[in-house]
Amino acid sequence: MDQPLLSFEALAKAALELPPQYVERRISNAVNGGEFAMDRLDDADAATVIRSINTSGNWVMLRFVEQLSAYSGLLDRLMDQIGPSISPSTGPGLTIRGFIFISSPGTLTPFHFDCEYNILFQIAGDKHFATYQPIPPWLPLDRHEAYYSAGNNMLPWNDAYEAEANIHQLRPGDALFIPYASPHWVKAGAEPSISLSITWQSAWSQSVGAAMQINPLLRRCGFPTGDLPAWPKAPKWRSLGCRVARKAGLL
Ligand SMILES: [Fe+2]
Repeated sequence: MDQPLLSFEALAKAALELPPQYVERRISNAVNGGEFAMDRLDDADAATVIRSINTSGNWVMLRFVEQLSAYSGLLDRLMDQIGPSISPSTGPGLTIRGFIFISSPGTLTPFHFDCEYNILFQIAGDKHFATYQPIPPWLPLDRHEAYYSAGNNMLPWNDAYEAEANIHQLRPGDALFIPYASPHWVKAGAEPSISLSITWQSAWSQSVGAAMQINPLLRRCGFPTGDLPAWPKAPKWRSLGCRVARKAGLL
């Protein structure tokens, strides 16, 4: 993708334009099973970190870049192109968001899952992107449920998972679809990397999220929770129950 908005310099400027709470600086040498360890942004601003990403030992995430009108336009144009392809597989895209990752060489993004659909566009540098099915043992049910109460999306790691990964080698111009909640870890190659993620929800993923949120309450009350239905079948009763429980202040 030859796109001036996605050059290192354009992203350094975008990092200063975004409200600071949407710009995160993280360490590049995290490990699977660990956390997204943060680095402070008070010794260098985000633009300086991005301009020196080759040596800074960091990766920077720009969250919700659609807040900047130029990037909102870019996401709209992308969604116009990919929307007809994704709708048959996920239903219409809702709550569309953009994330940009600028990574030092060798950055490891540790094992985690995201409760949204994602297409990652590799813009600069290479990435080794490892994915797993969104089922146990890689995604334990209690972790999936806990995400909707506590927001933690990190996952426990077992060294045996290394050989079980589906590895996708991404080079500039490649794109990868990551299904809802599919666990993954990512390793950047020998050059600084830029990736753009466009993420979205669907009516189905919102319904699944509601079921995950209400499951613990149902279990405490002695009700069955059942398996997660495969798309397009949605857990409609649990989803309805979740909306009622939210209104009643039970969740
Ligand atoms: Fe992710």
